[in-house]
Amino acid sequence: MIHVNEPLLDGNEKKYLIDCIETGWISSEGPYIKRFEESFSVNVGRKYGIAVANGSMALDAAVAALDLSEGDEVIMPSFTIISCASAIIRSGAIPVLIDADPETWNMDVNLIEAQITSRTRAIMIVHIYGLPCDVDPILAIAKKYQLKIIEDAAEMHGQTYRGKPCGSFGDISIFSFYPNKHITTGEGGMIVTNSQALENKCRSLRNLCFEPRKRFVHEDLGWNMRMTNMQAALGVAQLERLDFFVKRKRAMGQLYNNLLKEVPGISLPLAKTSYAENIYWVYGIVLKDEVDFDAEEMMARLAKFNIGTRPFFWPMHEQPVFLKRGLFKNVSCPISSRIARRGFYVPSGMALTEDQIRTVAEKVKEILK
Ligand SMILES: Cc1ncc(COP(=O)(O)O)c(C=O)c1O
Repeated sequence: MIHVNEPLLDGNEKKYLIDCIETGWISSEGPYIKRFEESFSVNVGRKYGIAVANGSMALDAAVAALDLSEGDEVIMPSFTIISCASAIIRSGAIPVLIDADPETWNMDVNLIEAQITSRTRAIMIVHIYGLPCDVDPILAIAKKYQLKIIEDAAEMHGQTYRGKPCGSFGDISIFSFYPNKHITTGEGGMIVTNSQALENKCRSLRNLCFEPRKRFVHEDLGWNMRMTNMQAALGVAQLERLDFFVKRKRAMGQLYNNLLKEVPGISLPLAKTSYAENIYWVYGIVLKDEVDFDAEEMMARLAKFNIGTRPFFWPMHEQPVFLKRGLFKNVSCPISSRIARRGFYVPSGMALTEDQIRTVAEKVKEILK
């Protein structure tokens, strides 16, 4: 079986984990937490980093920290993971959806301004699958209408937009360290910001809003979203190798591009745009209309060759959980709907070998010939 994702854990991961066990620091109080928070925030050019249990909780805390009011609107892409919309909804705000760009699969920045109302308070930027959003026009709109920026850089470790690190553009930005990410802690996430007020708020939200003076008296509702020292130990070891990981993923993406470029019926990820070079978080493929079956069928056929795949995100405006709540009633995002049905990704993990990539490409070719 060629798995869709396998991480590479052959740096200092084992050494640092043994250190946690030998010193007894296994909870969220241990020294690797601070080390990871500091080294990670420096890496993306931010003042503060707050390590949390996963990327979804990082989004929950980031949105909650902005203190939005019931009925406030937050603009976000339809084509993304549910964590983005659920964080907005749990805060009492309303997500307003933007369709995807057919080439980059990111939010189409040309559609944003028309969705701004007197209730709009923030824009959630989500960088999808390896290429960043076109950030500058979004920042210009945010400035014009005085909106906050929440930046979901969950998939963007080591990526830049016009030379500046992804994760450095939001009033508050987040990352995930799930094992399919460029660096992993097993489960984990990070919030980064330059605002001390947002930092304090997130630290409190992460830790059940315990009061510093009267610990079990609470002024606010938080979560237990603490990361353990063992996860942070993995994170420190992984971060040491981020440059190598980015190079490796770019080489994998390039190899897939070369092997698949002549195959009829498929669109491949853009290798670059005017503002960034793809880091291929995952290697996505979209079936063109001329192919008379959809991504589900393609994935089933690849599974017969023992090749693991995953479907693309299912767009927010088609999620039963939101439609049942009366959200997104007349929303149409045709590009998101199309790529959700026609898109899938092939094995893209850090431990993937060149031979495995060649096998995957051969089988894709064989199915589509
Ligand atoms: C864009 C995006 N945001 C948020 C998340 C959630 O991160 P986690 O799986 O760590 O909760 C993911 C996960 O893959 C993601 O791709």
